[in-house]
Amino acid sequence: MWTSKELSELIKSKLGDRLLIVVSNREPYAHIFDGDDVKYYVPPGGLVTALEPIMKASGGYWVAQANGEADASVVNEKNEINCPPDNPIYTLKRIFLNKEEETGFYYNFSNKGLWPLCHITYTRPQFTEKDYETYKKVQEKFAESIAEIVQDRPAFVFIQDYHFVNLSKLIKEKLKNVITAQFWHIPWPNSEVVRILPFKNELLDAILHNDLLAFQVQYHAINFLDTINRFLEARVEYDTMTVTKDSHVTMVSAFPIGIDYEHVSQLSSSEKILNLRNELLKRYRLKDKLVAIGVDRIDYTKGILERFLAVDSLLQRYPEFIGKFVYVQLGALSRIQIQEYKELNDKLNNMMVGINEKYELNGWRPIVLIRANHSQDIITAWNGIANISLVTSLHDGMNLVAKEFVAARNNIDGVLILSEFTGAARELSDAILINPYYVDGLVEAIKSSLEMPLEEQKRRMSKMRDIVMKNNVYRWAAKILSEIFNFEFVESDS
Ligand code: F6P
Repeated sequence: MWTSKELSELIKSKLGDRLLIVVSNREPYAHIFDGDDVKYYVPPGGLVTALEPIMKASGGYWVAQANGEADASVVNEKNEINCPPDNPIYTLKRIFLNKEEETGFYYNFSNKGLWPLCHITYTRPQFTEKDYETYKKVQEKFAESIAEIVQDRPAFVFIQDYHFVNLSKLIKEKLKNVITAQFWHIPWPNSEVVRILPFKNELLDAILHNDLLAFQVQYHAINFLDTINRFLEARVEYDTMTVTKDSHVTMVSAFPIGIDYEHVSQLSSSEKILNLRNELLKRYRLKDKLVAIGVDRIDYTKGILERFLAVDSLLQRYPEFIGKFVYVQLGALSRIQIQEYKELNDKLNNMMVGINEKYELNGWRPIVLIRANHSQDIITAWNGIANISLVTSLHDGMNLVAKEFVAARNNIDGVLILSEFTGAARELSDAILINPYYVDGLVEAIKSSLEMPLEEQKRRMSKMRDIVMKNNVYRWAAKILSEIFNFEFVESDS
């Protein structure tokens, strides 16, 4: 298993005096006011969970959009703050955007446009020229900040996600000795879908300034090569997985992202979490209940409505579960300025109220919806409590919630119900794989999971735990480094 220490040594030996800079839209810590005090929280989403252990292993800079209302009050004159706040190891450089910039860049072009385009869940993508101009302008701001950090030093800039399609180009226009890699955390659709993207030639040309472009699964990497083949004049080689454009070569690969398995597993057995589990069982009166859990940003790609429909059908079809089964949905509010997200929130509320009223029995209710930004402690405690985890995304690049559930199951029991449309399904074939568009199938999957013999649960769970343990986030980072710095990747023997 790859460890933080091994990754840290690898980074030192391969990067030498090259500065490491990670760039993402979402920051790892956001500061907020609490009366006269300032406190911080970790924003939701798989990206932050995955990258924080790497930054802790490597040090360096993390450049991200400032998001907390108190962010400005805790940074120095360069907008920097040492992180993690309680035990600093790396520097977070915050980029402050005004309302207009945040709307055009984050809400509109990234999340009303590119997000639905790439996820294909039948939400119509929207693009305007004004948003695209703002999207580029904000990336220019990021590039300027990166140039300020780097100056004339050699650097490796590791860019995250669809918020920064033009960034490698903008960075390389300013800096000479910089290598860039970009990881695309979400799906890359086939070329027919990309066809509707206005500005696609400029965007595709820009992203090819990366030295490495990595995806979660091979299918998305191939979709990308097909897209370039179709729309740009460039040499696409499928056998070497490279694109050559204007004599620059971009390597294209698939590296499924992982989690810090060891950390989650140890946390799950800690006294703190065991106490928390007892507290939650008491608070929600779940001691003698069969519990299913869902942990998501409230997003239309996650298939949360489908889960509520499945709970309704399960109780209708199999009334023996009335009074015995509870579905707990942990939902973090997300992108709430966007109409589709507002509507989803309202719908979820109405559905929950309707289903709970329909089946309510002596104070028992089938759905508990807890809307908050849940800490890793809370999520780990719930993952320990649940008999079943429901991951029913309509489309998902990876889905680290599934991997966190597996890592938290130290008793090797419990069942993961997993959408076949997640990247995670390619690795976790011992989950109960379902098609979330087929709610009847989901209902049967929940029923058979609730009735699955312990032997069978353990057989499946132990195989999945081996995979999640081995393919952890340190191995993921080491593999990316081996590709970009061209050394042979060796499995860890620790
Ligand atoms: O993994 C996809 C992603 O969009 C990340 O880029 C992001 O940080 C995470 O999901 C959460 O979304 P948001 O930052 O928009 O809340």
